[in-house]
Parts: sequence; structure tokens; C-alpha cells
Amino acid sequence: MSYDLVIIGTGPGGYVCAIRAAQLGLKVAVIEKRKTFGGTCLNIGCIPSKALLYASEKFEEAAHELKNFGVIVDAPKLDLPVMMKHKDDVVSANVGGVAYLFKKNKIDSFIGLGAITAPGKVSVTAEDGSRQELEAKNIVIATGSEVTPLPGVTIDEKTIVSSTGALALEAVPQNLVVVGAGVIGLELGSVWGRLGAKVTVVEFLDRILPGMDGEVAKQAQRIFEKQGFAFKLGHKVLGVEEKDGKATVTIEPAAGGDKITLEADKVLVSIGRRPVTEGLGLDVLGVAMERGRVIIDDHFATNVPGIYAIGDVVRGPMLAHKAEDEGVAVAEILAGQHGHVNYNVIPGVVYTSPEIATVGATEEDLKAKGIEYKVGKFPFTANGRARAMRQTNGFVKFLADAKTDQVLGVHIIGPVAGELIAEACVLMEFGGSSEDLARTCHAHPTLSEAVREAALGVEGRSIHI
Ligand code: FAD
Ligand code: NAI
Repeated sequence: MSYDLVIIGTGPGGYVCAIRAAQLGLKVAVIEKRKTFGGTCLNIGCIPSKALLYASEKFEEAAHELKNFGVIVDAPKLDLPVMMKHKDDVVSANVGGVAYLFKKNKIDSFIGLGAITAPGKVSVTAEDGSRQELEAKNIVIATGSEVTPLPGVTIDEKTIVSSTGALALEAVPQNLVVVGAGVIGLELGSVWGRLGAKVTVVEFLDRILPGMDGEVAKQAQRIFEKQGFAFKLGHKVLGVEEKDGKATVTIEPAAGGDKITLEADKVLVSIGRRPVTEGLGLDVLGVAMERGRVIIDDHFATNVPGIYAIGDVVRGPMLAHKAEDEGVAVAEILAGQHGHVNYNVIPGVVYTSPEIATVGATEEDLKAKGIEYKVGKFPFTANGRARAMRQTNGFVKFLADAKTDQVLGVHIIGPVAGELIAEACVLMEFGGSSEDLARTCHAHPTLSEAVREAALGVEGRSIHI
């Protein structure tokens, strides 16, 4: 069996790459070791987490919010198996959708472990040990990432869980200790917190959401604390002991000091993810790596001709849409086009309540680079639609070059921030200025008016504040 392109891994990087390459006329095969397509994102990541975030938000609304609109309901009861079924149904529909798209685009799919046996040759080993060899003019490694373990702590996915276990708990824990105040810790901490768990987050650094704009992260922390999160910032985990389905977490201030123990029904380890390359045969082929990630050039090529890599397995943020865009770009390059990804305009969204969305440089980035900038800020408390929705927490923040007014970064904490950030992405993709956005008519009354008002704020021209 001979192909123009064989892709190992069918996460958002791999499956999107396959579809785009097939659209461009290449003969394509994909290899996936899981039983279903869609990778981390569709099976155990973005999609199931958003299904539970949405469902748990409904529970929270019924319990605490609806009465403020004059909608009186009895205290809601949780039917966790139904909530989990909703999540599982959403996952099934999505992974089934990828299988359908493979068929529609005449992409051959192989279930089994992929390995590159030589340049241009890929083997697929099925669960029963049977092996097939594929010939490939080009190979794309899209094998993604897995949970980074916490040294000395065994994740059993029962009491001590990763995100995968935290997406499938059979009961609401009374006490949930989350290790790591990053995206997974806050999203999945929110799910179980809304359903009744007391959530304590232990974070090594003295802030939450490292890498996000500092002012946004501070505001987020205050809001999460009001929601019931307890934060132990600047603390490191010394060990977690599991006994009879309960855990004791021992922590210590990172700067030194007295140890504290936390009792928990469940411990979620969410301290980051690491690339997956084991068993691919990259060491034998001499594919260059750096700190576990495959090194690629600007065209996604590794140092070995004919082998490319995209997504979580290479540099850059570990995000589904970044992997997808790289998949499209490498497919276009292999078809003789000029595929390209603009890494300055990759949004990041934390799907908590409120949502947190960011694109481009933070204030900290600009200060570190010595770039002079102006700030425009607008709070949702001054937005009519947000008031009507009783969702006035948060603000929109624009950062624009002080001389040229080009927008360098936009950061939003507030209702549907993950949708609102899209207009900032379009603006920045076109090299737009804050004035470009400020002069664009926005429908009233919408949340997007807060985005426009923040853009107006760069020159001190916001109307409603
Ligand atoms: P993956 O999705 O990891 O896919 C790689 C695939 O390759 C897997 O299916 C794996 O089984 C397969 N594979 C690996 N090795 C082999 C082999 N040797 N042979 C055959 N197959 C192999 N990102 C967002 O942008 N938004 C979100 O809301 C979001 N939420 C997340 C929530 C959670 C809980 C987690 C864990 C992650 C989340 N992410 C989110 C991150 C996102 O899932 C990843 O960035 C994305 O899946 C990366 O895509 P990928 O194609 O590079 O790899
Ligand atoms: P993360 O990198 O977002 O956060 C990990 C946190 O753990 C950091 O704050 C870090 O300082 C802290 N930490 C590291 N070691 C520690 C230790 N020993 N003790 C205490 N704290 C420690 O990683 P996370 O949350 O695991 O997510 C992994 C990846 O998945 C992220 O890179 C993210 O891009 C992706 N993801 C994206 C989502 C989204 O886009 N909405 C949702 C969930 C995951």
C-alpha cells in the first residue's frame, strides 16, 4: 500500500491535515492507536470537558442564579449518570463525525500503533499483534501529548486522577485537591466545584494561569475565590498518600516553611502535558528532539527528509486549533502551496465562568520586550447586555503599539469571552489598529460593544465609562 502522505495520530492536528491533503488531491492514510479517531481533544480533552462545563453550569444556574430572574425552581438534584451520558454522547457524535469525514474524503484509516521503520516506510501493529507495512512519500507525526506525571505520585485514575479520570468520576467528591492552577485544574475544578466539591488548588508559582496577562489572572483568582475555590499558591506537593480510597496531600511553601496536609477524596494532577513520541522509532532514524518535542523548521519539516511533525508534539502552545492550523499548513506545503501559521495570533480560552480569552502579547510580554504600548480597558459592569444577563464580572483589555496603534494583544475575562476574542483575532490577522475596531459599528445591545469600547479606550474615547 503506497500513499502520498501517511499521518500518525488522528487528533485535531492529524485528522485536519488528512482532510486538507485529501482535498488537495493527495492519497492519504491515517494511523491511530486508539479505537476511535479525534485524539486527546475529542476523546478525553476539549470536547468532554466542555460538555461537563456546560452541564455543570446549568446545575449551578438552577441552584443559585435563576431565582434572580424571577424563575423559581426547586433546589436541583444531580443525576450524575445522565450528565456523564450527555458527555459520552457528545464525544461519540464527534469521533463518529471524524470517521465519516475520513470516508467522505477517501482517506484510508488503520487502527494500531504506528512506527516509522525507515524514511518512507511506516508499520502499523494492531492490538492482536498483526502488522502491516505502508509506503509513504511523506510522513506527518501528529502523536500529540499525554499527562505529565508528578514525581513520586502514582495516578490510579480512581483516587489520584489525571484529567481523564476527572472527566469520569462516579460521584461528586467532598474534597477535591487540584495540583496545578493551569487550564485543566481550573476548568475541571469548576465542574466539580459547581456540583458540590470543596476545591483546593495547590500551585507552585505565586499566581494562577501562568502565561496569561497578570491583571486578568488576578481578577480571575478573585472571582474563583468567590465561587469557593481555595488557593494554596507558592506551595509544592511533597507527596500524596492513598489509603482506602482517600488521599492525604502533603504540601510545603515553595520558599520553605512548615508542611501542611490536606485531606481529599480525589486528587487531580494537572501540572501540564508532555509530547508522545515513544515507540515511533525516531531515535533510530535520528530525528532531532529537544526536551521531548520533535524539532521542526518553519515548514514543519524535521531534520530527516520526508518526515514532518505538527501539534502538541512540536513547539508552541498545546492547543487544538493550533494543531489544526499546522495540519492545514503542512498539507498545503506538501501539495506545493504556501501553507503558513501566524503564531502571533493564536487565541487561548479558559472555559470557566466567566470565560477567560487571550490573543497576542500580554502587558508582561510588552514590558519585557521594551515595546511602548497604550491600554484600553472596559468593564462588563458598564455593558447593558451583560447587566441584562447578570454577568458583569470582568473586562476587555486592548494593548496597542504606542506609536502605530497596531493592536498587539487583547485579553478578555467575562461572559462568552471565548467567542468575543474572535473579532480581536481577525483584527490582528489583518494588522489592524485599535482605531479600526473602534470605528466599526457593533450591534446594540451586545457584549461585543464592550470590545469596541475597550478599543475606543486606547485613545481615551470610551463612551459609556
Ligand atoms: P492529540 O489530540 O493528542 O492526538 C494524538 C493522537 O495520536 C492520539 O489519538 C493518540 O492516540 C495517537 N497516537 C499517539 N502515538 C501513536 C502511534 N504511535 N500510533 C498511532 N497513533 C498514535 N485545547 C484547546 O484548544 N481547547 C480546549 O478546550 C482544550 N481542552 C482540553 C481539555 C483537556 C482535559 C485536555 C487534556 C486537553 C485539552 N486541550 C484543549 C488540548 C488539546 O486536546 C490538544 O492541544 C490537542 O488535542 C492536540 O492535538 P494533536 O493532534 O497534536 O494531538
Ligand atoms: P498548564 O500548563 O496549563 O498548568 C499547569 C500548572 O501547574 C501551572 O500553573 C504550573 O505552574 C503548575 N505546576 C507545575 N508543576 C507543579 C507542581 N509540581 N506543583 C504544583 N503546581 C505545579 O497545564 P494543564 O492545566 O495540565 O493543561 C495541559 C495543557 O492542556 C495546557 O498546555 C493547555 O494548553 C491544554 N489545555 C487547554 C485547554 C483550553 O484551551 N481551554 C483546557 C485544558 C487543557
